[in-house]
Amino acid sequence: MVASRSTPQDTGTLVVFGITGDLARKMTFRALYRLEHRRLLPGPVVGMVAPDWDHQRLVERARQSVTEANRAAGEDVDEAVLARLLDRLRTVSGDYGEPDTYLALAKTLGSARRGVFYLAVPPALFATIARRLAEVGLADGSYLMVEKPFGHDLASARALNEQLHEVLAEEQILRVDHFLGKEPLLDVQYLRFANSLFEPVWNRHHIAAVQVTMAENFGVADRGSFYDATGALRDVVQNHLLQLLATMAMDPPSGATDDAVRDQKVDVFRAMPDADPAHYVRGQYRGYLDVDGVAAGSTTETYVALRVDIDNWRWSGVPFFLRAGKSLAARVTEVRVVFHRPPRLAFLGEPTRPEPTQIVLRVDPDPGLQLVVLAKDPARPAPRRVPLELLFGEALGQFDEPYERLLHAALVGDHSLFVREDAVEETWRILAPLVETPPVVEEYEPGSWGPQSADTLLRGLSSWHDPWTAR
Ligand code: BG6
Repeated sequence: MVASRSTPQDTGTLVVFGITGDLARKMTFRALYRLEHRRLLPGPVVGMVAPDWDHQRLVERARQSVTEANRAAGEDVDEAVLARLLDRLRTVSGDYGEPDTYLALAKTLGSARRGVFYLAVPPALFATIARRLAEVGLADGSYLMVEKPFGHDLASARALNEQLHEVLAEEQILRVDHFLGKEPLLDVQYLRFANSLFEPVWNRHHIAAVQVTMAENFGVADRGSFYDATGALRDVVQNHLLQLLATMAMDPPSGATDDAVRDQKVDVFRAMPDADPAHYVRGQYRGYLDVDGVAAGSTTETYVALRVDIDNWRWSGVPFFLRAGKSLAARVTEVRVVFHRPPRLAFLGEPTRPEPTQIVLRVDPDPGLQLVVLAKDPARPAPRRVPLELLFGEALGQFDEPYERLLHAALVGDHSLFVREDAVEETWRILAPLVETPPVVEEYEPGSWGPQSADTLLRGLSSWHDPWTAR
């Protein structure tokens, strides 16, 4: 059955599959609470729970999740807001594979049948849930919001797309990449395109290289079995880091449709040749093999460093270096745009060519922008690096959190922040050679910056710059 391609009209209802899972505990309930606080939840929130859960237990879980997540964020809970959220909560219990569960759901929804069905569940369940929803007439005119990972390689991503398209039109599928809900990824679009200073130099004539770092200073902890089957490349590069790269590299979007930005990003992906395993380093932190759920002798990587290229007029010849890892020296996600070095200028008191200008977008923590320039050292006639800094929170005020933004976008029918089928398939295509012929995994010390051989990727070009960690 092919679903109607009409635009969903009534998206007031939110139905959450996986509402008792870890993601919901840490992110979803807090996001719902924040939306409730701003009075942005339009209708009921239905939690789909296992047969041994009931409404009271879900209410307790919701209360506990909001309290814990708010505490972690250093915020008190506003009891009146929480009460309003709990009041909205409905519960449907049953097995996700059983038709009866969906009949019960349809009955609970009554006339509010069209909505957002949010699948925070393992991807193996996506197609079954979509089909069951369609069988009871709930897919028509609704949206299906699905969590990552979307496939584990190109073939599985294609197969999953095909299965979902049997019951849903592409416009009804909202693929989540929570990085797209992060404020700095939106900020950078304004910085790049709303200032005439940057765009003229944002190309191969002025930029020598781009470095993307996503470092985490913690291990895989209680996610051993998920992570061991996934690894760093699939966990954060295929989705988060390539989306971040495309945001930095895309051409200016034209028009204001949901597809304006997504079209430009896909154009970047299309211009990227398949990644070369000769420019790929994999690492595993010492101690990873002792984590619960990790297979004995596992060669899953907890660190990757790679080079990718974009073969178009803007970027040809500019290497993009990406690195991501667990148990590294710091927690920081940034993109560093490194300009060409200036010529040697004897009168500046510098015997060699001065350091390059850099623009750094820090995504986490404490998002901001840094312009690293050379100025005169007051103590001597020589240049010294000095950062010009903009901290978004401090200068511009507080902003929405990623899941708050994405759930709201889904409920109001804004699709621009979700990943389209073509982007998913292109990103898997780019990384396919690395997935298929991975190099050996090298051990690294927890608390370090990963295996030494990551440096060899940059040999002859530059070296990894220390990320912007301190304030
Ligand atoms: C998730 C990955 O998608 O993103 C995790 O599965 C990772 O391994 C997380 O830790 C990082 O997200 P954030 O928003 O904390 O940078």
